[in-house]
Amino acid sequence: MKVYLDNAATTPLAKEALDEMMPFLTDNFGNPSSIHSYGRKSRAAIEKARKIVAGGINASTAEVFFTSCGTESNNMVIKQAVKNLGVKRIISSPIEHHCVLHSVDMEAREGIKVDMVRIGHYGEVDYDHLETLLKESDEKTLVTLMHSNNEIGTLLDLEKVSALCQQYGAYFHTDTVQTIGYFPFDVQKLKVDFLSGSGHKFHGPKGVGFVYINSSVQISPFIDGGSQERNMRGGTENLYGIVGLGKALELALANMDTTRQYITELKQYMKDKLDHELKDVSYNGYTDDRCHYKVLNVSVPLNTRTDLILFNLDIAGIYASGGSACTSGSEVGSHVLAGINAPADRKSVRFSFSKHNTREEVDYVVEELKKMANVKEMAGVK
Ligand SMILES: Cc1ncc(COP(=O)(O)O)c(C=O)c1O
Repeated sequence: MKVYLDNAATTPLAKEALDEMMPFLTDNFGNPSSIHSYGRKSRAAIEKARKIVAGGINASTAEVFFTSCGTESNNMVIKQAVKNLGVKRIISSPIEHHCVLHSVDMEAREGIKVDMVRIGHYGEVDYDHLETLLKESDEKTLVTLMHSNNEIGTLLDLEKVSALCQQYGAYFHTDTVQTIGYFPFDVQKLKVDFLSGSGHKFHGPKGVGFVYINSSVQISPFIDGGSQERNMRGGTENLYGIVGLGKALELALANMDTTRQYITELKQYMKDKLDHELKDVSYNGYTDDRCHYKVLNVSVPLNTRTDLILFNLDIAGIYASGGSACTSGSEVGSHVLAGINAPADRKSVRFSFSKHNTREEVDYVVEELKKMANVKEMAGVK
């Protein structure tokens, strides 16, 4: 049996998205900037996708820009906010994705003040501390906090952070790469200056993302070049990628409630089974609705089998992640698990679900985990 439970790392491409992309990989290859009919057909396809994205978050199409990925969107917002908006201070958290943390670090090296908000044991933002930080300086500030943590799923209270940012006149960027297509967004109700999305997290293709930039803020391009994306991002558009992203998001939005209910129940089913079958199991982050419904970060005791748990799962045909998939392969510890003080003498596995997973798969995974976790011998003890 093969079980893919690494959907926070990436999701399989929806068949409908591929079907929509195919003509643009073959016959409809015109450059969207060309004025002939081939080009105009490509341009129309991009604008159709933009409409879907804008509609999905209740933004205007003029506020949506396609990029190459979530990483580019996040880099762009942080670097250009400093460059163009007079931002002198950034407030972030130690458990953000590396594409945010590394951009923030680069700005710190350039003399921008960086304050990290305190994070609790579940990865939750200490909102009082955030307010204290916002209060203590009048310097123009950008708050960049992710909506859902990619490793432990902890959700941010977007309304609360948005209200605080408005109260203290800070810009607000949220990395919504894990939540676009999974939760409803309405940027008319939720005041946010920037948010970012990535196609491959919601059954779209890899290598394409988008950034929402509130019309009240103006930043300059991060990638210089032609006048693509209304002068906001140079480079011939990833036409079929954008088309696929649009279709995948359309499907995700149309089926959001059913998908959410299905995955929520499946995750609960797995948790109940683990609680019952494993002698000593705990979880990193929350397991209720304060956590993204697609993420379950499981912690088991360290022993001879769990020492190489991802490897052993892989051999059993089960695909999951340790820390963040972006650093998997190199066994470097997870900065998220370190950030929430997860015990160092346990092993953690992030299982992340999609609508394609089944209870039979979960039964199999729990059986295999049982063989690994319920072993007495300690790692390193012969
Ligand atoms: C929270 C979060 N932000 C940003 C990214 C980067 O997105 P992309 O893979 O599109 O560059 C990821 C991907 O793992 C993510 O999980």
